[in-house]
Amino acid sequence: MPRSLFFSKLLERERLNHPDSSKSTYHLKLDLTGSNITYEPGDAIAIFPSNPLPFVEKILNAMKRRGEEKIKHPRTLVPLSLKEFLIDHCNLIRITAPLLSLFPKLLFSDEKERQAFAQSHDLLTLFERCSPSKIDLQTLLSKLSPMLARFYSVASSQKKDLTSVDLLIVTFQSEQGGEIRQGLASDFLCHRAKQNKTPIRLYHHPNPRFKLPQKKELPLIMIGPGTGVAPYRAFLQERTLQKDSGKHWLFFGERSRSHDFYYRSFFEELESQNRLRLDCAFSRDQEEKTYVQHLMLKKGGEIWQWIQEGAIVYICGDAHRMAKEVTKTLSLIAMRQGTMPKAEADAYISQMRKEKRLLLDVY
Ligand SMILES: Cc1cc2nc3c(=O)[nH]c(=O)nc-3n(C[C@H](O)[C@H](O)[C@H](O)COP(=O)(O)OP(=O)(O)OC[C@H]3O[C@@H](n4cnc5c(N)ncnc54)[C@H](O)[C@@H]3O)c2cc1C
Ligand SMILES: NC(=O)c1ccc[n+]([C@@H]2O[C@H](COP(=O)([O-])OP(=O)(O)OC[C@H]3O[C@@H](n4cnc5c(N)ncnc54)[C@H](OP(=O)(O)O)[C@@H]3O)[C@@H](O)[C@H]2O)c1
Repeated sequence: MPRSLFFSKLLERERLNHPDSSKSTYHLKLDLTGSNITYEPGDAIAIFPSNPLPFVEKILNAMKRRGEEKIKHPRTLVPLSLKEFLIDHCNLIRITAPLLSLFPKLLFSDEKERQAFAQSHDLLTLFERCSPSKIDLQTLLSKLSPMLARFYSVASSQKKDLTSVDLLIVTFQSEQGGEIRQGLASDFLCHRAKQNKTPIRLYHHPNPRFKLPQKKELPLIMIGPGTGVAPYRAFLQERTLQKDSGKHWLFFGERSRSHDFYYRSFFEELESQNRLRLDCAFSRDQEEKTYVQHLMLKKGGEIWQWIQEGAIVYICGDAHRMAKEVTKTLSLIAMRQGTMPKAEADAYISQMRKEKRLLLDVY
């Protein structure tokens, strides 16, 4: 457990999409009063979610337990009730190999079959199939997967409000064994946590690798589709409070301009004051998909010019495809605008990363 765990509360929660949007992305404001947390743009807040109570109750039922039983947390040895442990301290979805080994009746022909079983079952379906009531409770709990914290980029500058932090969180669903599941932390924060009531366990996660430059006059190119835009709201809140800060260029992307333009008035206001250059790729507003990297390629000449002026380039959001494709696009811009062969352009981009002129925060 991290040393400085703070119990916060939700001050504000607002869905930022149009009601008819295919996405559900929320702006959250969390209370930091009394926390001693000092965060900077680029940092993250780590949050421990709680499991849904009805699901915990079904598991207790399958375990033939009431929940009031006193147990010891298997790692910290702190005494607590079984119900408290199941709500806050373990992952009820992920089945571990040591847990399966407690059920010798479950025979698997090979490792592949065992893994397939673990992937398609949660604790409830396992316990309904093989009752765990004869297994020593403390041994059983020691084999459960721990609850891990989820990270969320800070979307506000503490220079604007010392006692709160804003987050931008997308909710989603996935499928397990034919069941539709809500993402645990995103569902907890965006749907289940009650405003000013539910305790939210969090700690500050500094990120020294995704920071504003010391030299405030340097230009910034910020690429952040979806929730990847969160840190740039914090960057811009902070930089617009600084005198003589450099110019800013934001590449934002989402599905639809009318339905999914997060923090639209904030960014457009800065654009109208000539403090921000804004390019948006709304992927589903036309027949053919348009992504941030397509806009970047079109504006390659000016991006190259900004890079020559010392711009710091930031990429935030999806690690699986977007960040790779945007990095490739930067390389393509170096090839075309800097008239370099591919190997030299790739080396140029690698050098930018080494010199911290290209910074990534991707997940
Ligand atoms: C440094 C960092 C910063 C982050 N910042 C943000 C942020 O600002 N805003 C934000 O919304 N998230 C952010 N994330 C992601 C966030 O930490 C969680 O991973 C996310 O909210 C899912 O957690 P969950 O508990 O809701 O889902 P879980 O219950 O953990 O379920 C997630 C599982 O579902 C699968 N899955 C289902 N749908 C998807 C999908 N659409 N994409 C990928 N996997 C999927 C995954 O394989 C994963 O195993 C960040 C992550 C990191 C590491
Ligand atoms: N680890 C986890 O559990 C978890 C949970 C939630 C989210 N995430 C990650 O967080 C990322 C951000 O999610 P988000 O919902 O905020 O935004 P997102 O899914 O990245 O979508 C934002 C925009 O990016 C577009 N896009 C899709 N593929 C792209 C590509 N290859 N290059 C550039 N743009 C692309 C989308 O278009 P289209 O949709 O029209 O294609 C959409 O317009 C996700 O992609 C996911 O990887 C992780």
